[in-house]
Amino acid sequence: MKQITNEEINEQYEYMRRVRAIIGEGKKACVRTFGCQQNEADSERLGGMLREMGFETVCDVKQADLILVNTCAVREHAELKALSVTGQFKHLKEAKPSLLIGICGCMVTQEHRAGTIKHSYPYVDFLFGTAMLYRFPEILWDTLTEEKRQILWEDTGEGNIAEGLPVKREGGAKAWLSIMYGCNNFCTYCVVPYVRGRERSRRKSDVLAEARELIADGVQEITLLGQNVNSYGNDLGTEGDFADLLNDICKLDGDFRIRFMTSHPKDASHKLIDVMAANEKVERHFHLPLQSGDNRVLKAMNRRYTRESYLDLVGYMREKMPEIAITTDIIVGFPGETEDEFENTLDMLRRVRFDNIYSFIYSKRRGTPAEKMPDQISDAVKKERFARLLKVQDAISKEKNAELIGRRVPVLVEGRSKTDPTRLTGRTAGNRLVHFTGDDGLIGKRIELLVEDAEIHSLFGSYSPKE
Ligand code: 5AD
Ligand code: SF4
Repeated sequence: MKQITNEEINEQYEYMRRVRAIIGEGKKACVRTFGCQQNEADSERLGGMLREMGFETVCDVKQADLILVNTCAVREHAELKALSVTGQFKHLKEAKPSLLIGICGCMVTQEHRAGTIKHSYPYVDFLFGTAMLYRFPEILWDTLTEEKRQILWEDTGEGNIAEGLPVKREGGAKAWLSIMYGCNNFCTYCVVPYVRGRERSRRKSDVLAEARELIADGVQEITLLGQNVNSYGNDLGTEGDFADLLNDICKLDGDFRIRFMTSHPKDASHKLIDVMAANEKVERHFHLPLQSGDNRVLKAMNRRYTRESYLDLVGYMREKMPEIAITTDIIVGFPGETEDEFENTLDMLRRVRFDNIYSFIYSKRRGTPAEKMPDQISDAVKKERFARLLKVQDAISKEKNAELIGRRVPVLVEGRSKTDPTRLTGRTAGNRLVHFTGDDGLIGKRIELLVEDAEIHSLFGSYSPKE
């Protein structure tokens, strides 16, 4: 792993100053982000660098002088969307030749996709992979001053850690805090280890310093991010594991809550669950991707746990924290998945009764072991299984939501409801939306709501301030 040195970061600040000096007043930039929270956190760094370089951020691409697309590679759908969005910028560039278009993130960290951009999207001015994010100011400077496109594809390799970059936080009362990067697990379907490099943990002192800063800024909810937070610290030696880190963050002064994601069931320890149970500051939510409920499929996925060990873990969590909300990720249609094996996944949904599931149709990823596996499942079967999976979970979600009617639930108020602006929306510990009537002063506050009605995906509540 490479820790980027202070000198290297300072060099990037120098590039930021130089860019700022030549771009002129009133320039606008728009960052479009695809994919996971890690990417959103990266985009906040890109936004911070853009602000430092004198750009004002805008949402409307038509107003922008610079557009940066931060892409995802986890499924083909996300890639096709990013390519299609980038394709739409062609006419913007024709109408305004000075417009700068850049593309970064996981999709273009794959050599073949970098090639696609290079050859089929000639109006893209610059491209860089995940390991070069901290060099964005330098890349932009070179784009502005050299008369050629900057297509900087390179293998992500071990990956790196860059501290001290500026950040433009977009989350209001909530904030992301990356504690580690990369992944070593090589689940056979997954492209992440190839595009994000090896697992590497930030120093504990850096994580704690950032947490303190967020708390001082009034952030109510900090989400610790990593592809597999449970292996935090494995590469650091003496600084302790994830449970220790969580415990140390909980000890910081202030009225805040902590979440974390994502956990790998093979590494989620009883120690971690004990730390959660002992600390009110940790939200009662555990996202624990199951992927499949069948032991043969889990083995073929290289997940390294069984349905039995998963159930044991869930049992321990519920024993220690009966109110805990458990959510998961499921992939349907992994190569070779039989009808019976799929039924085992449905069986796990019924046994665990997840509060919510994030379900995905298996998507073949270039360069992964599963790409070459025989018995790829047809689209028709995958779609049919996907629909059955949702139906089973919808019934469970509906029942679980109905059980909450008449109960008071704590929520963090996020803002106006997107579907009904006359209402506010809050989120429960389990990440469920609760709509209610109230005034804007409640936004960003933690309050209790009385649940009055429930649907599959949301709850409806009422707020009466405590006397
Ligand atoms: N196809 C479908 N879903 C995938 N995921 C990761 N790789 C793939 C793939 N090739 C899902 C997993 C993971 C989530 C972030 O994305 O469920 O937990
Ligand atoms: Fe992908 Fe598995 Fe790593 Fe998660 S743990 S990022 S699914 S390889």
